[in-house]
Amino acid sequence: MDHPDTILIIDFGSQVTQLIARRVREAGVYSEIAPFTTAAEAFARLRPRGVILSGSPASVLDEGSPRVPDVILDSGLPVLGICYGQQVLMHQLGGTVMLGDSGEFGRAFITVADDCALFDGLWAEGETHQAWMSHGDKVTALAPGFRSVAASAGAPYAVIADDTRRYYAMQFHPEVVHTPDGAKLLANFVRHVCGCAGDWTMAEYRAAKIADIRAQVGSGRVICGLSGGVDSAVAAVLIHEAIGAQLTCVFVDHGLLRAGEADQVVSLFRGHYNIPLVHVQADTLFLNGLAGVTDPELKRKFIGKTFIEVFEAEARAIGGAAFLAQGTLYPDVIESVSFTGGPSVTIKSHHNVGGLPERMNMALVEPLRELFKDEVRALGRELGLSEAFVGRHPFPGPGLAIRIPGEVTRERCDTLRKADAIYLEEIRAAGLYDAIWQAFAVLLPVRSVGVMGDGRTYDNVLALRAVTSTDGMTAECFSFPGDFLPRVATRIVNEVRGVNRVVYDYTSKPPGTIEWE
Ligand code: XMP
Repeated sequence: MDHPDTILIIDFGSQVTQLIARRVREAGVYSEIAPFTTAAEAFARLRPRGVILSGSPASVLDEGSPRVPDVILDSGLPVLGICYGQQVLMHQLGGTVMLGDSGEFGRAFITVADDCALFDGLWAEGETHQAWMSHGDKVTALAPGFRSVAASAGAPYAVIADDTRRYYAMQFHPEVVHTPDGAKLLANFVRHVCGCAGDWTMAEYRAAKIADIRAQVGSGRVICGLSGGVDSAVAAVLIHEAIGAQLTCVFVDHGLLRAGEADQVVSLFRGHYNIPLVHVQADTLFLNGLAGVTDPELKRKFIGKTFIEVFEAEARAIGGAAFLAQGTLYPDVIESVSFTGGPSVTIKSHHNVGGLPERMNMALVEPLRELFKDEVRALGRELGLSEAFVGRHPFPGPGLAIRIPGEVTRERCDTLRKADAIYLEEIRAAGLYDAIWQAFAVLLPVRSVGVMGDGRTYDNVLALRAVTSTDGMTAECFSFPGDFLPRVATRIVNEVRGVNRVVYDYTSKPPGTIEWE
């Protein structure tokens, strides 16, 4: 791939490092995140135009806390430090950082004291602006060459600058929305200070990736597992554009899909794009294997394993392939940085085709590895996928199985599919689909008493869930207009046999997860 202007973001473990990458990309500049542990290698590989240092839960005062590699500070390139990034820069360049007597958390107001390249066209001396702070330690003496250009009540060095070396740093977080001008401050850094053109577009990305895929694959065959979701579909369409008939897609229908989902995928690929597609109807295999399984992790593991078996059999049937294509996204590949050194707890074993390559001995083709979800959607539009397809809510690999707590049966899948279709139909009709990250129904292993007509019912309870989110990592419950949920509940109870009560899930993530299992 031609080398675009790139900004390297060094991750010191902040919860919001990904947002820095987002903001930089929104400014039309390609960015990648590297954990501090591999920052020097990433710097050599990416040849960036500038470097941004993230925040961190660590304190520079702690022994062994992370540092900026010398190669970066010796390079003569611009550097922007954010929060811990500011403190570590001061610590390494000869300033002083101390434990503050009281931290500053949340909204703060900073007053501009002087001009600075970051403020160009944005902030002027004497003005006060809102910013988001979250720090305990603070800089108490500047390193030689720096001057303070903005201050808050709790941080005399809220923004500092060394114009000669083009080093800038701020105590607050410009990447979060609670710093209203933060995106513009970052844009000023990457464009004005680092000199990036700001012309990184999806059209260019598409052309560069097509060239990459051709170079990687040569005349080899590629096989791609389609889940029905947006990511694998966009990856497949892009690869098809690059190598045409060398690509074969395999779509495993495990009987746990939503209403109409299999038809949509098959008609999109065969009808619209004319991409070779093997459609494997494996519902009996999956549903038989799930009989009697109630533990969520066992369900997930069985589905993952069986998916691999079916996929392997199909791969053999087409004579094998040297490459496996996946719709892996950037959030899946960013290593999270742990300061405790311990493994992170497995909340759920996510099922995608990630387990395949080791067993199948195929090289991976992952053209979406550098993209965030909404960038994948933009690429999908660029490739001509319809808005209705690219805008679809995420759907998990294990499908309806993890939306049926307790045993999964064909009958329960059918019941859930009907209720879910009504819920989504009403959401679309109300014009709310795009405002929601994900909405779905869950069929509970609980029965309740009701009355219909003159008779008593003793039927299933169904839960409805709808959340807003930017990346699925955290989520808020979606607030429907007042009459929406009662109307959907009435329709479901009237139209779906076996459901006599509907409840709504108000839990955010954390502490809940989006799916119920
Ligand atoms: P949770 O339930 O972990 O879900 O809060 C976060 C997002 O991930 C989706 N999800 C999955 N996606 N395979 C997938 O491809 C999985 O096994 C899986 N489990 C959860 C979930 O739908 C939500 O968008």
